[in-house]
Amino acid sequence: MNLTIPKKLAIIMDGNGRWAERRGLPRSYGHIKGTRVAKKIILDCAELGVETLALYAFSTENWNRPQQEVNLLMRILNRYLHRETENLVKKNIRFSVVGQLSKLPSDILRAIEHAIDRTSHCSGLHLIFGLSYGGRWEITEACRSIAEKIQSGELKVHQINEKLFEEHLMTPKDFSPDLVIRTSGEIRVSNFLLWQIAYSEFYFTPTLWPDFSKSDLLLAFENYRRRHRRFGLIDSAIVNHDQAASLKVL
Ligand code: IPE
Ligand code: IPE
Ligand code: MG
Repeated sequence: MNLTIPKKLAIIMDGNGRWAERRGLPRSYGHIKGTRVAKKIILDCAELGVETLALYAFSTENWNRPQQEVNLLMRILNRYLHRETENLVKKNIRFSVVGQLSKLPSDILRAIEHAIDRTSHCSGLHLIFGLSYGGRWEITEACRSIAEKIQSGELKVHQINEKLFEEHLMTPKDFSPDLVIRTSGEIRVSNFLLWQIAYSEFYFTPTLWPDFSKSDLLLAFENYRRRHRRFGLIDSAIVNHDQAASLKVL
């Protein structure tokens, strides 16, 4: 398989609940299996040379799920952080999070801080968890912080441009995913990285997240290789002298 590895990858890991329900199991089983899959895919991405991987783990809207499911997801996350932090260090993976962290329980916040601290020197894959994350929230917060700076005189209105706005987002600078993968057959973004996906390629697969494997990942990369990214420009291949000349005439 001829591969082009996307440097910046985002994954919307969806379908845990349906995976369990189809087996007559409680949704929690799907989340547990889904976490195991995430663990493997993170290592696969690190090995394959992905530079930044953003995983959508919990959205701002997911807080509205039944309390029992929210509690379970928090417990799973806590366990993942406790069990995996040292493994991330071993694999040279730098961990970070983006989201409304103030809403998270304090034990998880401590585990997150520990993981960020322990992996801060790692120079391999940069892993970003979207936790209590919403694209609209992130954009609103950026607006608020710019407005505050204008109010205090630190910034002038004429200084606002795309670059400045981007600098006020919570995701790392220049984090515009090359490829966004969403599992479970849903063809939507569900409030993930709204600003950053302006020119991302999308890959939707019916595979439910707990069934997602390295071979599905490689299939997505193979599909990505065949994409023709133009970023609003035109293919350099079709700009030949004749066309350039005819454009001059027009
Ligand atoms: C994704 O699986 C995990 C989270 C959103 C936390 P879901 O829980 O959304 O599973 P489905 O989409 O209901 O099958
Ligand atoms: C998106 O999945 C959020 C995560 C994967 C964390 P959802 O299951 O919450 O999205 P919808 O409700 O299908 O749009
Ligand atoms: Mg879902």
